[in-house]
Amino acid sequence: MSSSENVFESIRWDGESLVIIDQTKLPGEENYLELKTAEDVRNAIRRLSVRGAPAIGISGAYGFYLGIKDLETEIDNQFLKACRRVADSLNSARPTAVNLSWALNKLMDQVERGVRDGQNTDEIKKSVLADAVQIHDEDRELCRSIGEKGLQLFDQPKRVLTHCNTGGLATGQFGTALSCITHAHNAGNINQVWVDETRPLLQGARLTTWELRKAGVPHSLIVDSAAGFLMQRGEVDLVILGADRISRNGDTANKIGTYTLAVLAKENGIPFYVAAPYSTFDLSLASGDDIEIELRDEEEVTALNGHPISPGQTSAYNPAFDITPHRYISGIITERGIIYPDFEKNVVRMMNRAPA
Ligand code: MRU
Repeated sequence: MSSSENVFESIRWDGESLVIIDQTKLPGEENYLELKTAEDVRNAIRRLSVRGAPAIGISGAYGFYLGIKDLETEIDNQFLKACRRVADSLNSARPTAVNLSWALNKLMDQVERGVRDGQNTDEIKKSVLADAVQIHDEDRELCRSIGEKGLQLFDQPKRVLTHCNTGGLATGQFGTALSCITHAHNAGNINQVWVDETRPLLQGARLTTWELRKAGVPHSLIVDSAAGFLMQRGEVDLVILGADRISRNGDTANKIGTYTLAVLAKENGIPFYVAAPYSTFDLSLASGDDIEIELRDEEEVTALNGHPISPGQTSAYNPAFDITPHRYISGIITERGIIYPDFEKNVVRMMNRAPA
């Protein structure tokens, strides 16, 4: 980032509450929301005030602490049950990004360990908060490292196409795919970033352009359906985008439209990379067939900024994500290095490797 005014914190723990930039208001207003309860956090995740797989994992972790910090029950089954209810409620906010359940499971493990070790509730609550802060701090480091690993793809200046928003807004800081792009830019290796607008909620148009502008990276916004045209004309050297859940064989759930881009990239001989931290891998799933796809409200498609764009009563189908089969993916950029095919073997191998 070129100056301090361009640095923003999408998520901040202020000691008592979680402060987030309300991403639904960007780029028009830079509004901050103070979330004081688990329910506040759940609602913020649900309506996409905070969004992006790592960011909802981090927020969910703080939300869990907010939900258990005032529980007065003594250590017994009631305490465990109450904690489980908080975790389940937060986890039900959005189903596709595994980072949310990953973070909540980690904290529930901490609670169960505390109970087993005979800790009192105050001690358990304290270690849950420490874990939430650790998840947040770790994500910054993971994203920095993903950006550094991504530099391998930039032996010369390139024109990159990206989808949705994968930047600091969507993570603890720096982003995933966007971290690769800003690192490459800082190394003088970005000629152009093509930013898909990302209908229906316009994360590309509203958020990625906002971040790239702050970072001084050259970019142009395109409608989603222009991607194929640009690829066909030889205007795209590389596609890099994020992930919400990656199964053991490398199949990747990401924002709706990702699969279309992957097929277009293959058709046009363009390398197609996914960037994600270890917390986005779900090794319990053999393939993408088992990933639940979130279906969102019809109004997100039938209206734009609250203004109807189709006749009243028009019905709409609104899957928020799709699955890209691993055969379309050239590589997956992680903090540990880039995973290349054969993904069936190499995903598990890289995830078992200690972080560099
Ligand atoms: O519905 P969203 O905006 O939460 O979807 C976000 C994405 O699909 C991102 O590409 C993904 O979460 C990776 S963010 C680093």
